[in-house]
Amino acid sequence: MRTRTQVGIVGAGPAGLLLSHLLALRGIDSVLIEIRSREYCEARQRAGVLEDGSVALLREANLASRLDRQGLEHGGIYLQFDGQRRHIDFRELTGGRSVTVYAQTEVVKDLIARRIADSGRDAISFSVTETEVAELDTASPVLRYTDAAGTRHEVTCDAIAGCDGFHGICRPAIPAGVLTTWERDYPYAWLGILADVPPSTDELIYAHHCDGFALHSLRSPTVSRLYLQVDPDEVVANWPDERVWAELSRRFELPGWTLERGPVLDKSITPMRSFVSAPMRYGRLFLAGDAAHIVPPTGAKGLNLALADVAVLAPALDALLHGDEQPAAGYSATCLDRVWRSTHFSWWMTTMLHRTPGADEMTTQLQLSQLRYVTSSRAAATSLAENYTGWPPLSRLRSHADQDR
Ligand code: FAD
Ligand code: DHB
Repeated sequence: MRTRTQVGIVGAGPAGLLLSHLLALRGIDSVLIEIRSREYCEARQRAGVLEDGSVALLREANLASRLDRQGLEHGGIYLQFDGQRRHIDFRELTGGRSVTVYAQTEVVKDLIARRIADSGRDAISFSVTETEVAELDTASPVLRYTDAAGTRHEVTCDAIAGCDGFHGICRPAIPAGVLTTWERDYPYAWLGILADVPPSTDELIYAHHCDGFALHSLRSPTVSRLYLQVDPDEVVANWPDERVWAELSRRFELPGWTLERGPVLDKSITPMRSFVSAPMRYGRLFLAGDAAHIVPPTGAKGLNLALADVAVLAPALDALLHGDEQPAAGYSATCLDRVWRSTHFSWWMTTMLHRTPGADEMTTQLQLSQLRYVTSSRAAATSLAENYTGWPPLSRLRSHADQDR
């Protein structure tokens, strides 16, 4: 079946879903395709922290009614090391900025529900197969896919957005030699659990421990999310619930404080990688989110970067469709400035907090020195707080994008 749309969007993760909504608000049609089922997309456990700029963006786009009711605003984090737990007060250090704990699963559910409420069941084609993008260097790029009922589609577009994550098809469709990529693998992974137990802390705890990093996050007043540094080739089967809780209790140990335990609802292992490819555009194909860049999860930047990219891309596509090429020409550079800042911050947090297998005692002493500095110098703490809450602030990035018009 041959059809036409203004923007073809590959991937219904946070980037693709928000882009289709922001375009619809501007009166722009899109076709959004996704290889997974709706149920799978809504259940996939991933990130949990939104920068204040991401919250403002979702509010402005009228997507925050549940987020405003259920999101938990946090004004800081704890850093634990060397037997002490020290607070970093974001509000005080940054003139009132904060983050909100609200799971990516909930952001995705809200976005899917809104697209379907606004544009009907066909707003998103789930469970498609044989996806292809072609004619990318022409004014009419083409998106091809087979829908869940087996019908083959060929959609002629004015532009295509590759929001299909790190393992998608869009970035590899760009001819060899166009992209420059930078990549770093880390010699560890995260084992994450979701547990049906009230959090044992009021704010997130990032813990440095001689046996490896641990993070105490949460999902709600009754559900906790916790992570443990494990070897990169670890498998979930080696980690029965009792072993996970015992290891978490050891790494968070502090006199007078107890980690509450509860039934484990989900358990998975996530590899850690830094990856950037540039430019984020080839002809009429625009890459956004994990399709263009990956950060290790320490610092919770991945989801926020994906939302930031499409906040810049939506007005740039609007201008392009109205004959103004300039914002689209600036899209990649505008986003990459923030991408590199988050890439540096995530790498810095990761290397400060994790145990590198085989590293000598001097490496540990350097980490502890940095942790003491960050928790005692106002300037160093402010730098952490600015980056954690989002730098440059998303509002500044968006007004830059507007000035390109
Ligand atoms: P994605 O969410 O990956 O969405 C891409 C979508 O495209 C997917 O739904 C995929 O099924 C679909 N797709 C792929 N190929 C095709 C195709 N050919 N055709 C159609 N659709 C396709 N970040 C944090 O900040 N904290 C965390 O704790 C954290 N944990 C993570 C755990 C895991 C296992 C992973 C993979 C990521 C994690 N992240 C975390 C990162 C964060 O979740 C991502 O940065 C965020 O999901 C990026 O959104 P996106 O829309 O760009 O990509
Ligand atoms: C969460 C994940 C992170 O990577 C992080 O730095 C903080 C919180 C989370 O899943 O809640």
